[in-house]
Amino acid sequence: MSKIAIMGAMPEEIAPLLEKVENIKKIEYADNTYYEAEYEGKELVIAYSKIGKVFSSLTASILLEKFACKKLLFSGVAGAINPELKIGDLIIADKLCQHDLDISIFGHDFGYVPEGAKFVESDETLREIAKAVAKENGLLLIEGTIATGDQFVASNERKTFIANHFQADALEMEGASVAVVCDALNVPFFVLRAISDTANDDAGMDFDTFMVSSAKISASFILDMVEKID
Ligand code: ADE
Repeated sequence: MSKIAIMGAMPEEIAPLLEKVENIKKIEYADNTYYEAEYEGKELVIAYSKIGKVFSSLTASILLEKFACKKLLFSGVAGAINPELKIGDLIIADKLCQHDLDISIFGHDFGYVPEGAKFVESDETLREIAKAVAKENGLLLIEGTIATGDQFVASNERKTFIANHFQADALEMEGASVAVVCDALNVPFFVLRAISDTANDDAGMDFDTFMVSSAKISASFILDMVEKID
């Protein structure tokens, strides 16, 4: 049976997963800890990367190349841009972009580099599974664009820039880098985030208040999805 990778960026994003899975085996590799585990008869490899695009790319690459995971699910929290998204709400990315990638001086769109793409699309089958889980549990699930960058956004000005240039619904710090890795290696991936703040002036305080509870909402949803993945 093929292994499923589940990753987060912070310990709090994978802790609720580790509480529920069975037969955990810890493996230290490349300055990080990977947890092989089982859930509902499925083989999982779980890890948190540390925050940001570089660490998340490293962890995603290791999950796919060293642990040979054949699907990757990301679980965590995000700041909302779309006003329909409230704290605790869930968003799945249909596509992801890097909002801080900027060679616009050469006439390129924000988020684009030659031989790359402005947007990377997530796996449609995994998104359909998420929609089925949301329906079964009567949960609101918004599908939209997630923008990633190496900065915690806590200003309306930056939020407006990201909204205008990427039409993004939510923002965070790892999704698009994981997407680039999975896309290059042809591994289906999926990014789920529960909202912890609205990326405005209060974002720092809201994040501290809601990060743990929102991370639990996301992790619990991911485990419901695992049951349905072949
Ligand atoms: N993750 C959760 N909230 C965020 C924010 N406001 N900026 C970047 N990443 C986040």
